[in-house]
Amino acid sequence: MKKAYVFLALAGLLVCHARAESNISEKQVEIMNKLLATYTQQAKVEFKEEKGRGAVSDKPFTAAEGRRFYLVRRTWQSGDFTCSGCHTDDPKKVGQHIETKAPIKPLAPSVNPDRFIDAQKVEANFTSHCMDLHDRDCRAHEKGNLITYLMSVK
Ligand code: HEC
Repeated sequence: MKKAYVFLALAGLLVCHARAESNISEKQVEIMNKLLATYTQQAKVEFKEEKGRGAVSDKPFTAAEGRRFYLVRRTWQSGDFTCSGCHTDDPKKVGQHIETKAPIKPLAPSVNPDRFIDAQKVEANFTSHCMDLHDRDCRAHEKGNLITYLMSVK
């Protein structure tokens, strides 16, 4: 009897988990997991290299770190030079380009099925936005945290 309860509880957990993930398409989960695997490897290499600018760490990626990175304001710049400056504080919302004022479709994969389906496009956007904001490309650990955060946004 007890075993049956445990089984039901486990099954319930699995169902909840599957539901929570369901807004993000299989394709997005596949691409994002691939990116995470690549960034995990790269982060290990960067951690051993001479320390340059940007965060390096050999710790697992966390959504909280990704959220912090998404919101962090560069002190050497004036204005809203943050990822959230264009993509808004809530990545589920439609953003607005800080210069051109053009609308930007939401970044969160849970509300935008067109995001994170092309690894090359993701990399290109990371590089250009990181150059704009940090004057350097982002570190693998920063990218991994950000992807982890965006995957957690329901
Ligand atoms: C100046 C405005 C602006 C800022 C600041 C900005 N972005 Fe973007 N971002 C855009 C626009 C515009 C697009 C949409 C490009 C498209 O889909 O055609 C985009 C798309 C992306 C994508 C592509 C996702 C996909 O698969 O479609 C990623 C990843 C991204 N941004 C990450 C970031 C990160 C990380 C930061 C902060 C370091 C950042 N962005 C800051 C304007 C900005």
